[in-house]
Amino acid sequence: MRGDKALASLSAPLSLPGLHILAIAFTLEVSVGKTNTVTALNNSNVLLPCTFTTCIGFQDLVFKWYFNTTELIYHGKIKTKATEPTLVWKNPRVEFVGSTTKKENNISIVLNGVEFSDAGKYTCHVKNPKERNAQHNATIILTVVHKMVETDNTVTLIIVGVVGGLIGLLILFMLIKRVVLFIIKKTQDGKKECLVSSSGNDNTENGLAGSKAEQKAPPKA
Ligand SMILES: *[C@@H]1O[C@H](CO)[C@@H](O)[C@H](O)[C@H]1NC(C)=O
Ligand SMILES: *[C@@H]1O[C@H](CO)[C@@H](O)[C@H](O)[C@H]1NC(C)=O
Ligand SMILES: *[C@@H]1O[C@H](CO)[C@@H](O)[C@H](O)[C@H]1NC(C)=O
Ligand SMILES: *[C@@H]1O[C@H](CO)[C@@H](O)[C@H](O)[C@H]1NC(C)=O
Repeated sequence: MRGDKALASLSAPLSLPGLHILAIAFTLEVSVGKTNTVTALNNSNVLLPCTFTTCIGFQDLVFKWYFNTTELIYHGKIKTKATEPTLVWKNPRVEFVGSTTKKENNISIVLNGVEFSDAGKYTCHVKNPKERNAQHNATIILTVVHKMVETDNTVTLIIVGVVGGLIGLLILFMLIKRVVLFIIKKTQDGKKECLVSSSGNDNTENGLAGSKAEQKAPPKA
C-alpha cells in the first residue's frame, strides 16, 4: 500500500482517487522542457525539443510528431536503449536531431525554413510497448515572427530599470535627508552661536539704537 501511494504521488496529475492503478501503469513521461512555447523568425530553422523518460526502460518504442494534433510530420522507432532511432516516415522539411543512446532520451526535431503557416501546436507522442503500450505526449506552441522582439527581456529591463531607479531615488532621498538634517543641525548650532554672539551685538545695537535715539532726540526737542 505504501509503495502504491509513493508511486501515485510521483505522477501527481493522475493521483486522483481511483486512478492509482492508472498512475502506476503510466510511468512514461514526455516533456518539451520548462517552457511550452517557442518563437522563430520567418525563414529560420527552429528546434522543437522533446525528451522522454521511462521507469522500466523501453523496447520497440514508437514516437511521432504531429502538427496541430492531426498532421503527422515525423514517425520514428527505437529498438532498444543501445540503438539510435530509425526513421519510418518524415515531412521533408523536418530533421531528427535527438539521440537516445545517451543519458537523456532526446527525440527533438528541427523544422527547416519556417513559414508563417507553420505557426501552431507541435505534439511529441511516445508509445512504449514494454510498458503495456503506455503512451504520453507533450505539446509545444510555435509562433512565427518577422523580427525577434525580445519582449520578455525588454519587460525585464524596464522592471530592472524602474526598480533600480526607485532604489536609486530612495538612496538619494535618504542621502539628501541626511545632508539636510546635518545642515539644519549645523545651522541650529550656528544659530545658537549666533544667538550667543548676537546677544553681545544686541548691546551694540541697543547702543546704536540708543545713540540713534539720542541723535533723533535733538530734532524732537
Ligand atoms: C519571409 O521571409 C522570406 C525570405 O526571407 C521573404 O521572402 C518573405 O517575404 C517573408 N514573409 C513575410 C510575410 O515577411
Ligand atoms: C495527447 O494526450 C492526451 C491525453 O493526455 C490525448 O487526449 C491526446 O489525444 C493526445 N494527443 C495526441 C496527438 O496523441
Ligand atoms: C536535444 O538535442 C538537440 C540537438 O543536439 C539539442 O539542441 C537539445 O538541447 C537537446 N535537448 C535536450 C533537452 O537535451
Ligand atoms: C494550427 O493551429 C493554429 C492554432 O493553434 C492555427 O492558428 C493555425 O492556423 C493552424 N494551422 C494550420 C495549417 O492548420
